[in-house]
Amino acid sequence: MDATPRTQFLPPSVRRSADEDRALQIGFGSTCSQPSTVLSMLRFLDLQPGHRVLDVGSGSGWTTAIMARLVGPDGSVLGVELEAPLVERSAVALRDVPNAEVRVATKGQLGAPDAGPFDRILVSAATSKLPESLVEQLTPDGAMVLPLAGRLVRATREGKEVAPGYYAFVPLR
Ligand SMILES: C[S@@+](CC[C@H](N)C(=O)[O-])C[C@H]1O[C@@H](n2cnc3c(N)ncnc32)[C@H](O)[C@@H]1O
Repeated sequence: MDATPRTQFLPPSVRRSADEDRALQIGFGSTCSQPSTVLSMLRFLDLQPGHRVLDVGSGSGWTTAIMARLVGPDGSVLGVELEAPLVERSAVALRDVPNAEVRVATKGQLGAPDAGPFDRILVSAATSKLPESLVEQLTPDGAMVLPLAGRLVRATREGKEVAPGYYAFVPLR
């Protein structure tokens, strides 16, 4: 995360707060997630070199860039985001990251079923129910981390594991 400073993923209005451990408004009702929360999510996700990753709610593109670094040149990250202006902005910030791509999410369809399956899925928007359509986009031994009913949950095809603590996120739409 230190090697991927969040400054370049933020709009100028909040850049001075880039090093503060809090979520920052990036416009369009979205936030760039709190660094300590991103750390908890990524530890729970357990990314390995070569993994194919889906970043649902890629927002600023910061988590997309961090994960692209963690999976290395043999891996890849696809970010999907509902807000087209955020996709445009994050695509600029990610232009020097060859193994990362962002695209506008299709309304009414979660994730990117056409591009899966994925070894890992990170979801950065909250839901009250496990989205089965995303579980179906995982490889047989894949895993997804998401904020579910206020908790951080790691879901696989076999079951769920809950991390300590409570977390607030913008809602998954
Ligand atoms: C917490 S914010 C951005 C988090 C991002 N990882 C970051 O650090 O910048 C979550 C994002 O999820 C997006 N979102 C909500 N529902 C979505 C969906 N169904 N598909 C894709 N993006 C979605 C929102 O527009 C918002 O930008």
